[in-house]
Amino acid sequence: MTSGSWQALTALPRIPLNRLFEADGDRASRLGLDFDGLYFDFSKTHLDEPVLAAFAALADDLALADKRAALLAGEPVNITEGRAAEHCAERGTGNPASVENARALHQRMNSLIGAIDAGALGEISQIIHLGIGGSALGPKMLYQALRLGDEKYELAIVSNIDGSALEPVLERFDAHRTLLVVASKTFTTAETLLNARSVLDWMGEQGVDDPLGQVVALTADPEQAVSFGIDETRILPFSDTVGGRYSIWSSIGFSVALALGAEIFEDLLAGAAAMDSHFETTPWAGNIPVLAAFADQYYAQVRGCETRAVFAYDERLGLLPDYLQQLEMESNGKSATLDGEPLALHSSPIVWGGVGTDAQHAVFQLLHQGSHLVPVEFLAVVEPGDSLDPAHHNGLLLNCFAQGAALMAGKKSDDSHRNYPGDRPSVTILVETLDARSLGSLLAFYEHRTFVNAALLNINPFDQFGVELGKHMANSLSADDGNRLDASTEELKKRAFDV
Ligand code: F6P
Repeated sequence: MTSGSWQALTALPRIPLNRLFEADGDRASRLGLDFDGLYFDFSKTHLDEPVLAAFAALADDLALADKRAALLAGEPVNITEGRAAEHCAERGTGNPASVENARALHQRMNSLIGAIDAGALGEISQIIHLGIGGSALGPKMLYQALRLGDEKYELAIVSNIDGSALEPVLERFDAHRTLLVVASKTFTTAETLLNARSVLDWMGEQGVDDPLGQVVALTADPEQAVSFGIDETRILPFSDTVGGRYSIWSSIGFSVALALGAEIFEDLLAGAAAMDSHFETTPWAGNIPVLAAFADQYYAQVRGCETRAVFAYDERLGLLPDYLQQLEMESNGKSATLDGEPLALHSSPIVWGGVGTDAQHAVFQLLHQGSHLVPVEFLAVVEPGDSLDPAHHNGLLLNCFAQGAALMAGKKSDDSHRNYPGDRPSVTILVETLDARSLGSLLAFYEHRTFVNAALLNINPFDQFGVELGKHMANSLSADDGNRLDASTEELKKRAFDV
């Protein structure tokens, strides 16, 4: 804890959740916020008036409003890499030139979608999208969330360098009807490029005359894609000010837009734009991403929570915890402040989670009785995604609500093994209908919450130098340039490769 405001927060009384509800009959409605078909319930967190006031003071100390303005104006907020972070420009908010550029690139993407739909690349009915990290997690999560099952194209998204991920797709797909989409911001990522070469080899072996003629590249470095052999007309660029984990709004969304329809993608952008405007214009007390970040920082810094769990009570949102892991941990897993000083606070919590109700029968034991305090986030959708007996969906929702209630209420017992301490916090997000618009708003909410957390920590959420060392070492290992690593690693290599 550094500044006086953080100390003021730590010194506040820690009032149990049940007492907060007893003391304030309006608590559920005051801390339950509606936004365009989404409902965010913060009432089962320890946010109360004194905590909120202390965070408002902290936000002022740390110039949150200026930082937000700089982000949304397209100023170079990514100071370690000397550039802006312009994912909001993809949705229409930002530097006018960047907004215009994003619009033109979206148009280019839509034209290519129209041409492929019209048969310009032959009888395409299957898409292999290759990418990793931010170039795969967003498309995968969106496709699982929004597909209805009757789409014109079948989409397979492969990320891992492990051939066991790609091979089953190649066994199933028809090379003559396959479009290969290579998604890589840098177009240098080893996994993606190796997978791309293997798909091209497979196309050649299957008798495709011009495999490269069935390739589309999504990248911020078109020259690299040209050097790979991809024709310029099938390269969909995006700005290098759009970070990988923030890139679903750019041409990285192409495969999903092609598979699900370009209008779906427009709705996604519109949903995100609505959340951008809420974030930009709403005072802290009603600003949903800001309140969520206040709760995050309260648990991380004041209560010492090292993890945060996210449970999607909807199979369609099953990949959201994975998506959030990258968004939050790659953004805010840092140990240096914006001034280059050591961070004296806890950085991003470890984000983990799964799907309810499955997770209840696996990990919830620890949430209810373990010695760790874990803030939990529940996500549920009011309108069912299935047409079976409503008992399924009702049971799903009731389980979700019961878990939040049980974590908070607990149950006292003289038998310590059967005692539930309670007072365990949760946030519940209820989505009225899961569609592209609501998902767009939800993802933009998470992005802004991550940004506010970074602003409160005074760190840069937009670089990711932490992943470079391992990448570099993997490259030097594969190059077999004679560099010897430590004895343990050399032994592992010897056993695996018999060298
Ligand atoms: O290694 C981390 C990372 O750089 C992520 O930030 C990024 O989303 C991913 O790799 C993929 O990078 P690219 O899109 O350049 O292939």
